[in-house]
Amino acid sequence: MSLHMHPVADPRDFRRALGQFPTGVCVVTCAPDGTPHGMTMSSFNTLSLDPPLVLFSIDRRALSLPEWERADAFAVNVLADGQAELSNRFANPRGRKWEGVEHHASPLGAPILPGAAAWYECVPHARHDGGDHVLFVVRVRSYRAEPERRPLVFCQGRYMQLDTGTREVPSWPLDIHYF
Ligand SMILES: Cc1cc2nc3c(=O)[nH]c(=O)nc-3n(C[C@H](O)[C@H](O)[C@H](O)COP(=O)(O)O)c2cc1C
Repeated sequence: MSLHMHPVADPRDFRRALGQFPTGVCVVTCAPDGTPHGMTMSSFNTLSLDPPLVLFSIDRRALSLPEWERADAFAVNVLADGQAELSNRFANPRGRKWEGVEHHASPLGAPILPGAAAWYECVPHARHDGGDHVLFVVRVRSYRAEPERRPLVFCQGRYMQLDTGTREVPSWPLDIHYF
């Protein structure tokens, strides 16, 4: 059987294909000059253990991009199951994102949202060109995880619930790996 693959021609179709890769959902925040900013992001990922680096990318059209470029501290709030409303709120550039939203300042001053599944407090490390996005590589300074909270999942353009019915341990790392 031959598998027909298309070149990237239709951006909507490409986006739909990328949606086959499930992600979590984060609200990344910063507060340069004390004014809070927050944006829903699924582009968050882990990058390096030593040094501890994570990444996310921001659309060049985002109204708040200059604030992200100026910020010297970020908080990645990993949303939990049941926080889809927060995700929608922080994805709406026209909404009053912070109105009525409980939040606390992290030690470095970035807004922390209660009820999340994990928090990573970060400082800038590097910024790279990412086509129509800017890739932010940030260094984790402190963190907290709540393993009993299930993370919210985003897949095929929809919020989904994690089904923890099957939990298979991968046959990795092997002895030959790293340690
Ligand atoms: C589930 C989900 C994931 C998103 N992921 C990203 C992302 O990784 N990067 C990004 O720039 N925008 C992402 N967005 C869109 C932004 O959250 C949205 O455009 C935001 O309001 C832009 O911020 P602004 O108010 O500064 O323009 C995502 C939206 C949703 C609903």
